[in-house]
Amino acid sequence: MAGTSTIGFLEQYDAADDQTKVGLALKWIRTDWRPFFKELRESRPILRTPNFTFVTRFADVTEVLSREKVFTVLPYQPRMDPVVGPFMLARDATPINWREKGIMQAVLQPEDLPQVRQMAGRLADEALDAAAAAGRIEAIGSLCRFVPIRIVGEYFGFPGPDLTSMYRWSKTTQTNMFKNLLNDPAIHEAAVQTGREMHEYLTGLLAEKRAELAGRNGGAPQDVFSRLLRTEFPAEIGFDDERLLSNIMGLLVGTGETSSQAIAQSLEQILLRPDLHERAVDAAGADDPAAFDEYVWEGLRLNPINPLIFRLSVEDYTVAAGTERETLIPAGTLVFACTSSAGFDTDVLEDPETFTTGRPAYLSLHFGYGHHTCLGRYVASVLVPEVVRRVLLRPNVHLLPAPEGKIDFQGGPFPERFWFGFGREPAVVPGGEG
Ligand code: HEM
Repeated sequence: MAGTSTIGFLEQYDAADDQTKVGLALKWIRTDWRPFFKELRESRPILRTPNFTFVTRFADVTEVLSREKVFTVLPYQPRMDPVVGPFMLARDATPINWREKGIMQAVLQPEDLPQVRQMAGRLADEALDAAAAAGRIEAIGSLCRFVPIRIVGEYFGFPGPDLTSMYRWSKTTQTNMFKNLLNDPAIHEAAVQTGREMHEYLTGLLAEKRAELAGRNGGAPQDVFSRLLRTEFPAEIGFDDERLLSNIMGLLVGTGETSSQAIAQSLEQILLRPDLHERAVDAAGADDPAAFDEYVWEGLRLNPINPLIFRLSVEDYTVAAGTERETLIPAGTLVFACTSSAGFDTDVLEDPETFTTGRPAYLSLHFGYGHHTCLGRYVASVLVPEVVRRVLLRPNVHLLPAPEGKIDFQGGPFPERFWFGFGREPAVVPGGEG
């Protein structure tokens, strides 16, 4: 049911004129995505609006994201190319995507993960120690953004001139690439300006690193940037300095806001449920963190960082062919693959409204699906849970009363403020679900 009224979303939607329909749907994604998508999954799983088409069932979301030659990432190009240059995420089934994703996968080697996890833990502890005397922390700036951005510095080898610039670079680029559906020129220009600043900074850093590598006797640095510089590609591979810099910029864009939001939202979901919080603390203390990590990803399923992934279709295509819901999606349609909705689909998940650990990992779409599945998924898979784990290992971690104890987006696309208390006994213990 829409909001507090007794009228269903679809009833309101059907009664509206075309322009109002689009506005209503966009509003419901922001304010009521869970009940809105539930109604769509049950009554109209593929909803064609005048401006875009929603796909809400797990099978159809994964179908769309697996057909990269039909449902393309073309809408990313005007938002990414002027900022970081041609990039894998804005190219489907092209040499750039094939080659550069392969190169980047090789230098982000799985053998690094235990060390990345340790790094995330050390940085999280540093942030928590600094706030321990106060018994509370503003988590977004001091922890959720802090740890991923420092990992971009230490592990990827892109420290930036200072944290403030890195936060701004990360946010302006993410905002333009993924949150600027209405093409606001001010948002676009801020990202293009960031692209110039990053390029200038990284060109200097590249020269420094190259000089340092030339003067070294063994003991090569293991950050990702240095690894790329130590690798020689023949000219026909086409991975020159410009391509290298584009990919280093992509590491910051990919890591910063996504990881920050994932840390904040999964932590909040755990803290909102006192019994679960207790079980998560027990799991946090175990030698093997695998059981603990499930709390984090399940928390994020209940409040994912993105409601959907968008694509532009370039051929007529029938989604869910042969089923009752089969729908022809004509070329030129903006398609919303609603990954958040897929995470609640009773066709594949039992009792999706409950917080249940132990669900099969293949049902998780946090890192996308198919051709553009996240390059950083394994890094994020240790980084995000380790930060949450270090928080829960502190005594008396508790939500503070609203408004400061609720994640505050300050009207923008990303979490900006979120306070929690730890160390001391809480004065007030809020309960209930968010
Ligand atoms: C919790 C943290 C993260 C989340 C939730 C996340 C989510 C995603 C999603 C959903 C996609 C697919 C986008 C699409 O299909 O349109 C994606 C792609 C991508 N992500 Fe992440 N990401 C995270 C962390 C990272 C990190 C740490 C990196 C850096 C290594 C990164 C780099 C990328 C890149 C380069 C792509 C494009 C891959 C391609 O086009 O083939 N992400 N990410």
